[in-house]
Amino acid sequence: MVTLNAPEMFDSQAITKDWKMLSSWMPVPELGVLPVNSFLLKAREALLVDTGLGILGVDFLKRLEGEIDLPDLKWIWLSHMDADHVGNLQALLDAAPNARVLTNFLGMGKLNLAGFDVSRVTLIDQTGVPEIAGHNLIPVRPPYYDAPETMGFFDRNDGVFFAGDSFGALLPGVAHDLAGIAKSDLQEGLALWSSIDAPWLASVSREAFDRTLAAIDRLDPAVMISSHLPIVRNGISDMTAALSNAYRSGPVGGFDPFSVDHVINSLAA
Ligand SMILES: [Fe+2]
Ligand SMILES: [Fe+2]
Repeated sequence: MVTLNAPEMFDSQAITKDWKMLSSWMPVPELGVLPVNSFLLKAREALLVDTGLGILGVDFLKRLEGEIDLPDLKWIWLSHMDADHVGNLQALLDAAPNARVLTNFLGMGKLNLAGFDVSRVTLIDQTGVPEIAGHNLIPVRPPYYDAPETMGFFDRNDGVFFAGDSFGALLPGVAHDLAGIAKSDLQEGLALWSSIDAPWLASVSREAFDRTLAAIDRLDPAVMISSHLPIVRNGISDMTAALSNAYRSGPVGGFDPFSVDHVINSLAA
């Protein structure tokens, strides 16, 4: 597997006939590498999911322009407002004048505070989003996340489930195919990433977490796409099982020196 010294973009990958993944990877010191994916629904009115890493902006826009004419970009679905998801947003709003941003109320508020033009936002609400090139995207809250505006979706037509940050994995090296990753590396990487991205999972009841994971098993997507994992094509039960097992024996990540519990104990000592 390839290791990295700096973030890098790689060739786009087909997900389904209409969906493509724009693939980048970044090194995480001491911990390995992390994929940072954006996704493109290629259609007459195209939809882009997240806008990549700002540090790779020139390459990102070049690769996107290799797929579509930017004036044809109609929608930009923002999973949430973290830097690895909105990196090239302003450049895209400038270069794609017909594009509107899809997010929820909290997401729009964060964009407003960051100085973006929120008149270009269309809010995602319980009624879902407009049909996009024959695809019906149903908003879904992923099983865990690091920002409460996070919104994934289930594409009813292609059976594609977008899980945002969840199901991300820190890995030993770049791997474009899940099959190229050792099972133990994948399990450890899933557990480690979830403990960093959503440390609150440590205080969620196991039963509640397992219920959420079981619901995803029942959703049974044909394909799962995560912002931080290669494409999952053969069912997601291995992923949900790995996460459930990781947390069954208690919090992943071990001792937390910043927990209120520990602080209180040290004050009493
Ligand atoms: Fe995030
Ligand atoms: Fe992320």
